[in-house]
Amino acid sequence: MKIPGRRRRPAGPAAEALPAQSADVLPDPGVEVLPDPGADALPDPGADALPGAAVDAVIELAAAARTYPGPPPVHALRPTDLTVRRGEYLAVAGPSGSGKSTLLNVIGLVDRPTGGHYRLDGIDTGPLAEADRTALRGRRIGLVFQAFHLLPYRTATENVMLAQVYLATPRDRRRTEAVDALLAVGLGHRLDALPSAMSGGERQRVAIARALVNRPSLLLCDEPTGNLDSASAARVMDTLDALNAGGITLVVITHDPAVAARAHRSITLRDGQLSEDETKLSTGRPR
Ligand SMILES: Nc1ncnc2c1ncn2[C@@H]1O[C@H](COP(=O)(O)OP(=O)(O)OP(=O)(O)O)[C@@H](O)[C@H]1O
Ligand SMILES: [Mg+2]
Repeated sequence: MKIPGRRRRPAGPAAEALPAQSADVLPDPGVEVLPDPGADALPDPGADALPGAAVDAVIELAAAARTYPGPPPVHALRPTDLTVRRGEYLAVAGPSGSGKSTLLNVIGLVDRPTGGHYRLDGIDTGPLAEADRTALRGRRIGLVFQAFHLLPYRTATENVMLAQVYLATPRDRRRTEAVDALLAVGLGHRLDALPSAMSGGERQRVAIARALVNRPSLLLCDEPTGNLDSASAARVMDTLDALNAGGITLVVITHDPAVAARAHRSITLRDGQLSEDETKLSTGRPR
């Protein structure tokens, strides 16, 4: 398995040395478990690309909006245009309640926009049936949440394997891929640790490994360092940097100026309205 950014791979126990996994692991409803998209179910980006799609654009929002029905209705995301290109590292800032998670959930195909259009990798997601949206998400997007969402009685490796539970991949290969993902985030020495025996930063890196294991091209993180001390946060930021250097497109919601400083580009939301940080644009590191 090729995971971007695994250059920092530390030495870790070989996959064969791992104990056999216990009975079938059942997904926890609180865990982001993605069903097997099935190659046939996936729209072909080339075939379905709409005219006018920006070259190399991963995310294209055109007047995309999301209003929660009331009463009174909440205009959590006002009509928004946003293009994110392959390999970009975008930070999203803004006060509490400004619409950051709403935006991330739209981009992550968790929620549908209530207005406007969203193209992912050139595919217009509007007309897609729910199963096709889920398939697209499972194949191309990794999601990392602030609260980790790890199962407490499963090891780091088993937690990562949960993201593949519906895939047709044989268990041995799932384990090898989970170990690879954990190596890629610098956790080769914690493969069999339970979340309760890990630091906050290590838990968050398990959550990142779980988001990576299906090899997404787009990684979306909601406050990945929000619950972490500064040393753990720095380690998570290094992990994100390495992944981005390996080619993954990153969108990271953060209140942390240290995280925003590492991004190429940053945007701010206020009352559901997006603005681009022009300073960052001129000093960023566009690829
Ligand atoms: N399911 C919902 N139903 C109704 N309103 C909602 C729902 N989810 C979010 N909202 C409202 O939408 C607005 C944007 O919420 P959102 O969660 O996107 O904010 P946020 O910027 O992520 O905030 P935080 O920094 O606190 O996580 C808020 O006013 C929130 O109360
Ligand atoms: Mg939020």
